[in-house]
Amino acid sequence: MNGNEFIYKTDTNSTILEDGSFTWRAPSNIALVKYWGKREVQLPENPSLSFTLSNCFTETTLEFKRAKEAPTVSEPDGSTDFEQTLVQKVFKFDVFLDGKRKPEFEKKIGDFIVRVGKLVSFISDYDFIIKTHNSFPHSSGIASSASGMAALSLCIMSMEKALNPSMSEELFYQKASLLARLGSGSAARSVKGELVVWGEHSNIQGSSDLFGVEFPHKVHENFKNYQDTILLVDKGEKVVSSTVGHNLMHGHPFAQQRFKQANENISKLSEILQNGDLKAFVNLVESEALTLHAMMMTSNPYFILMKPNTLQIIDKIWKFRATSGSNVCFTLDAGANVHVLFPSNEKKLVNDFIERELVDFCQKNEYISDSVGSGAKQM
Ligand code: PMV
Repeated sequence: MNGNEFIYKTDTNSTILEDGSFTWRAPSNIALVKYWGKREVQLPENPSLSFTLSNCFTETTLEFKRAKEAPTVSEPDGSTDFEQTLVQKVFKFDVFLDGKRKPEFEKKIGDFIVRVGKLVSFISDYDFIIKTHNSFPHSSGIASSASGMAALSLCIMSMEKALNPSMSEELFYQKASLLARLGSGSAARSVKGELVVWGEHSNIQGSSDLFGVEFPHKVHENFKNYQDTILLVDKGEKVVSSTVGHNLMHGHPFAQQRFKQANENISKLSEILQNGDLKAFVNLVESEALTLHAMMMTSNPYFILMKPNTLQIIDKIWKFRATSGSNVCFTLDAGANVHVLFPSNEKKLVNDFIERELVDFCQKNEYISDSVGSGAKQM
């Protein structure tokens, strides 16, 4: 499989679509085994595994209307001219965030369209309005790229499904994840399922570098409705973007060892998720978070995304775990915010602890209570 099998083609059952709209709500996700390091185009250097979230989501409506004088862009021949034409002359879209026009998002979406254009060439026949809304504040330090790219990709796939109604559900979701991945790597994991693996791994049947798949094994009760409280430590812009960070893994002195470790951790976590070993879960998840940040600190140029309050929180969590016997643990993404993870039967215990000891380390005492969700929904 190299991605070419996902190129849009009309078939005998194809229909004509004049205008309409599709709306999808796609969740954010938090990686337990981290993706850090990529090769062209948006392919991961190692497999990753994430919990899908529930309350943190992007809802996007894609309104489309067949363009009056639609320039016909025939089957692309691989020339870059096709890409240029597609964005500059053909693909017309306006983007609104919470009702306000956002020209600054248009560049990002334009880049995405260049990448996915060959796979969904029908988009060149339409004019679009994209209306989007995040459930979490824009300045919360929570990346909207995963949920945002997933929601937009699903809307585009709904158009493809309307044009080719015989498309299977499996192909629909695989291609939605593949398109999302081309927008933002971790977005591949924001489409379907509670636990999602993205990246080929020998122990995960059906896994692929091209798209995310649902974790294929039965998950232990201990991990049902797992809780994730996101402590908003720093809501500012990241000093180093994840694109720059991923690229710093090229030639990184510990990169190969890290990619090997992530593969091993997927095998270990797969066992843990099935046997319910919470202590082993805590150990693996925290080690993954700190390894991610260790990669940042040992790249060149080196950088630190944690803030003093990130470390204060980690210290408090370790002390609380030692004295209470709780299975609470933390993970981090590429930023200073802390994701506090715990089983649902510890909700009261851990929520009290967060209120008592951790909120003071959050900007304006803000945090978001979330839990595992099942994936994107069409609205
Ligand atoms: O999807 P990106 O390119 O923003 O990369 C995200 C990388 C991490 O959040 C740090 C880890 C992960 O697997 O989500």
